[in-house]
Amino acid sequence: MIKLAINVDHVATLRQARGINEPDPVLAAGICELAGASGIVVHLREDRRHIQDRDVQLLRQTVKTKLNLEMATSEEIIGIALAIKPDMVTLVPEKRAELTTEGGLDVVGQQKKIAKAIAQFAKAGIPVSLFIDPDLDQIKAARQAGATIVEIHTGRYCNTRTETEQNREFGLLATASEAACELNLKVNAGHGLNYINVGRVAGLEALDELSIGHAIMARAMMVGLDRAVREMLDIIYKANKR
Ligand code: PXP
Repeated sequence: MIKLAINVDHVATLRQARGINEPDPVLAAGICELAGASGIVVHLREDRRHIQDRDVQLLRQTVKTKLNLEMATSEEIIGIALAIKPDMVTLVPEKRAELTTEGGLDVVGQQKKIAKAIAQFAKAGIPVSLFIDPDLDQIKAARQAGATIVEIHTGRYCNTRTETEQNREFGLLATASEAACELNLKVNAGHGLNYINVGRVAGLEALDELSIGHAIMARAMMVGLDRAVREMLDIIYKANKR
């Protein structure tokens, strides 16, 4: 059965907007787990715009399912991750001016740097996932660099405006997830998934886990976090059964 990992960055975004101590992403993570999430994801950005070091430290102590730390391949953040020891890390590209992670990681172009980071984490027993576009060259490069997991970027699929475009982008996701699976990589997917577009992706058999943040947090503001998580799980499970 496909799993759902929930990104709680935007709980911290709201907190940081006021510079006070609520809402707390640590509390939100607990509610997500109680509602059925299989993992919690946070992105400790170099600019600390939402998640803070304190959050990651506390989440390490409180998350009962699996803590996935998203991060740039930067020396400072690698050091923090090695000290905190999350259950896994996801390497993502990071640009200061972006609103959210834009494209996937260019593993082909930075294979040496990425392989070095993966080796550091492997030594500490921490599995590494690489966030990549649905591109066969990137998948092969991820395998060669020593990754054991890839997260396929669903952003282009989610941003399509016509059925034809959506079918084309979905085809790329399907091909990429199967190819990664054949290379013995664990395959996750995420970015931009919401209550409308998630069903089709959740039906892909090669996928192990979906990573979703914004849509769940946006709905949580209207209906509450527990219900927002359960409604997402319901859609995912129904789609995955077909
Ligand atoms: N996966 C990765 C690698 C991401 O960077 C993000 C955004 O933080 C997500 C998944 C979740 O994306 P969204 O918030 O659009 O659901």
